[in-house]
Amino acid sequence: MKPIVLITRKVPEIARALLQEAFELIEWMEEEEPAPRSFLEKWIGEVDGLYCLLTDKIDESLIARSNRLKVISTMAVGFNHIDVAAASKRGILVTHTPEVLTETTADLAFALILATARRLVEASVFLREGQWKTWSPMLMTGQEVYGATLGIIGMGRIGEAVARRASGFDMKILYHNRNQKPEAEMRLGMAYAGLEELLQASDFVVVLAPYTQETADMIRKEQLQLMKPSAILINVARGGIVNETDLYDALQKGTIWAAGLDVFDTEPVPLDHPLLTLTNVVTLPHIGSASIQTRMQMALIAAQNLMKGLAGERPNFVVNPTAWSDVNTGQGKE
Ligand code: GLV
Ligand code: GLV
Repeated sequence: MKPIVLITRKVPEIARALLQEAFELIEWMEEEEPAPRSFLEKWIGEVDGLYCLLTDKIDESLIARSNRLKVISTMAVGFNHIDVAAASKRGILVTHTPEVLTETTADLAFALILATARRLVEASVFLREGQWKTWSPMLMTGQEVYGATLGIIGMGRIGEAVARRASGFDMKILYHNRNQKPEAEMRLGMAYAGLEELLQASDFVVVLAPYTQETADMIRKEQLQLMKPSAILINVARGGIVNETDLYDALQKGTIWAAGLDVFDTEPVPLDHPLLTLTNVVTLPHIGSASIQTRMQMALIAAQNLMKGLAGERPNFVVNPTAWSDVNTGQGKE
């Protein structure tokens, strides 16, 4: 009998075809709406594998309802929507899709740097609203990107990809990370900085850290106050890393100059959110990895992770390798 897999959304056909071949599928077939909690609760106990998205909260209480689940595969690099510790405790593998989205997400980070610095969205609206009367010396003037100082918080693969793009703009690059990375510093011509120093010196601060207990609310009033009044904050990581109330205040009072946000505390961000009233904020609906090619690849890799894991092979992108060794030494199951 084929293993049974729960898929929490209508996924690209290229991935679905693979899954259908290998597994018995239980699917939530909507493309634009997450599966309700009741659907997940109803089926989680019946399946060997779970194919999920970052919009699904795979928490301890859901995981506790599983009884034959072996692999949780998310179609994302970030896995803060999954209680990995709870999965590990039960010997359940958690897999994700890094690498394939690195360059695409770095492109979006750079798009936000350029869009905020040069006021692209605001300028486009200005034109369409019929406000463009004449070329004028200081019309829609923004900040220089070329030669500016870029501070990257979180130096993983995406951070490196952003740094590579920044060299083409002759930017001075600082980074802050849990561990210093001397080899990457040499290769990318960047310097390590403490968080305070980075915030004080940077013209652009790009947040690329994973969301964890340590990074939750890492950028609040105190940190924003260290930044230059001309500085721009970009968040393409996770909403909860930057305090939204404090960010709104800082943008409104001119403590910092602008922000580019692809992620929010609550997604979709409510339309009455104060940040959406500001013209110096560029807001995007969590589209960091959203190129056609990359999303197809992510869907495929998430399927392959599940197929390998359920065939007893080690998937390429395992978040909790200890769960893997426990399964294979016959330990870890409760
Ligand atoms: C998107 O935010 C992801 O984690 O893949
Ligand atoms: C994600 O792949 C990262 O390491 O930044």
